[in-house]
Amino acid sequence: MAISGLRLLLFLLLRSFTSLPVQAAARGGSNSSGTDEKYGSFLRSLLEDMPRITEELTHGYMSNLELEIAARSIGSRCPNISRLYSIGKSVNGFALLVIEISDKPGQKEAEPAFKFIGNVHGDEPVGREVLINLANWLCDNYLKDPLATNIVENMHLHILPTMNPDGFALRRRGNANNVDLNRDFPDQFFPINDEINYRQPETRAIMKWVKQEHFTASASLHGGALVANYPWDGSRDQSKQYYGSPDDKTFRYMASVYSQSHYNMSLSKEFKGGITNGAFWYPIYGGMQDWNYIHGGCFELTLEISDAKWPKAAELPVIWEHNRMSMLNLAASLVKTGVHGRIYASDTGHPIPGLLMIKGIDSEVSLFRQH
Ligand SMILES: *[C@@H]1O[C@H](CO)[C@@H](O)[C@H](O)[C@H]1NC(C)=O
Ligand SMILES: *[C@@H]1O[C@H](CO)[C@@H](O)[C@H](O)[C@H]1NC(C)=O
Ligand SMILES: *[C@@H]1O[C@H](CO)[C@@H](O)[C@H](O)[C@H]1NC(C)=O
Repeated sequence: MAISGLRLLLFLLLRSFTSLPVQAAARGGSNSSGTDEKYGSFLRSLLEDMPRITEELTHGYMSNLELEIAARSIGSRCPNISRLYSIGKSVNGFALLVIEISDKPGQKEAEPAFKFIGNVHGDEPVGREVLINLANWLCDNYLKDPLATNIVENMHLHILPTMNPDGFALRRRGNANNVDLNRDFPDQFFPINDEINYRQPETRAIMKWVKQEHFTASASLHGGALVANYPWDGSRDQSKQYYGSPDDKTFRYMASVYSQSHYNMSLSKEFKGGITNGAFWYPIYGGMQDWNYIHGGCFELTLEISDAKWPKAAELPVIWEHNRMSMLNLAASLVKTGVHGRIYASDTGHPIPGLLMIKGIDSEVSLFRQH
């Protein structure tokens, strides 16, 4: 009896240990935006427990240079529906390159804009690969596939395959200064990151970009779990609880579009329907998602798209297939739902800035930079 009791205890302990790295691996289990030393010692040992990224494991993944070449080749293959631009540089000087896909790239139109960001964490490289696939697929299928054509013609899609090229090159989560970029944004509940000049160059590049472009919605791609995560990521009192934003219904809808279009995300045993509120899963502070919603009026999801943070490259084509319809349907949902349009001044007939409020929803979306 005693032995089986011990066994049960050991089993439970093992289970709780094996379920934790998923959290630590994905959005991260700590509010720290600093170096590894700032993680609790418990968490640090979990991080060290993770499989090392061996040379063999990196084989088949694009290097930063190869990624840039791939992005440029999309530009030359589909010049009339794409544009390549940089939003800044990483600590070590890699350009943060964005591929814009639209029939009028670079022009401001009364159409929704969506952004995808990959590789926020250097050791979660699946996003950068599938985003290059997505751009290539749209380039190849415009005027052949109705969904591709719809996206190209009715919205502007901005794709940043890697936000953290230095972390990728170093095979680690943080950037070259070893800061977790998904803890580096100003936070609504704690003033930890309020000093803008102390933000990392990658973080500042995103903040400037979001203020410049008027994104309707976005998603960042992570690895280490299989779930579509939506705001809020943090709760006011740091407790683990469902903490919904004013637009909770819309966010749940968007997350469900992703999970239901995915090969098997919605079948998750851990997350009902394959979606979760961030704070309900575990609260984080300084994340990119909440900042986008509050400061950019941009509805951002955090997508965990593969159980393994760094799977063998041979698995990438399957992961891309499993996520392809999700990515397309999520982007296209902006065209198929919601209210679209411009507000014009009655006297001059010119578009004017304004605020959009919906009765019953305690948030407002500012309509700025309309030309
Ligand atoms: C972050 O966590 C530390 C303990 O690990 C705690 O003392 C601190 O108050 C937390 N800060 C925020 C902003 O949650
Ligand atoms: C882009 O070029 C293709 C042919 O290469 C053409 O069929 C298509 O109409 C062009 N699209 C736009 C938006 O100009
Ligand atoms: C989804 O499919 C992948 C690949 O076949 C598998 O590894 C994973 O366990 C599946 N997840 C769920 C929730 O069914």
